[in-house]
Amino acid sequence: MPHTTRLLFLAGSAREGSLNKRLAKLAHDVAEANGIAATLADIGDYPMPIYDGDTEAKEGPPENARKLKALMEVHHGVFIAMPEYNASVTPLLKNTLDWMSRVKVEGEPPLAVFKTRVFALGAASPGGFGGVRGLTALRQTMELGLGALVLPDQILVARANEAFDDHGHLKDKGQMDLLKAVVQRLARAAHVMRGAEDGA
Ligand SMILES: Cc1cc2nc3c(=O)[nH]c(=O)nc-3n(C[C@H](O)[C@H](O)[C@H](O)COP(=O)(O)O)c2cc1C
Repeated sequence: MPHTTRLLFLAGSAREGSLNKRLAKLAHDVAEANGIAATLADIGDYPMPIYDGDTEAKEGPPENARKLKALMEVHHGVFIAMPEYNASVTPLLKNTLDWMSRVKVEGEPPLAVFKTRVFALGAASPGGFGGVRGLTALRQTMELGLGALVLPDQILVARANEAFDDHGHLKDKGQMDLLKAVVQRLARAAHVMRGAEDGA
């Protein structure tokens, strides 16, 4: 486990022009600008088949589920920006989390990777609600399903196709300040959580 508190930034969309990838990248850049060690990853680089119990019985979880779990393990906090699909979690992210939840390691408690780090959520949507309903569903999966600690602080970017300027920043200063606050809160919580896990 590295000595510096590290944050991982992901989006729940693999689409090339994804607004949520833009939000995840901006959050990552905000972290780096504040001296926080940060990694930006694309879950599109970890393709997995749709979860199926027979596939699992035959082959076990896909290698990419293990790889993404390993990536999470070297970070102490995770920011996920996810679009809302029909008021819920994107199938891509849900499938990724479902497979990751099936990775078993001997001697490791179930879901340890989720239970031993802290998460913060964001959403960007071209619509007016900003994806709040999707985040409520994601929160349920993460907290009740995976046992994760999810910060109450979150950022919603409504009308997101007009919300970013040419530098990838949010045009609205209040929204930019909120994003900075979410990232800083995540970094502080990750630092505390890391201390607890390290027995400090
Ligand atoms: C199947 C589907 C369902 C969607 N449902 C919603 C929705 O419930 N609420 C919403 O605000 N946008 C919804 N959208 C629009 C997405 O927010 C929009 O396509 C967004 O740009 C996708 O995120 P991305 O840009 O990060 O890929 C939906 C899009 C798709 C493809």
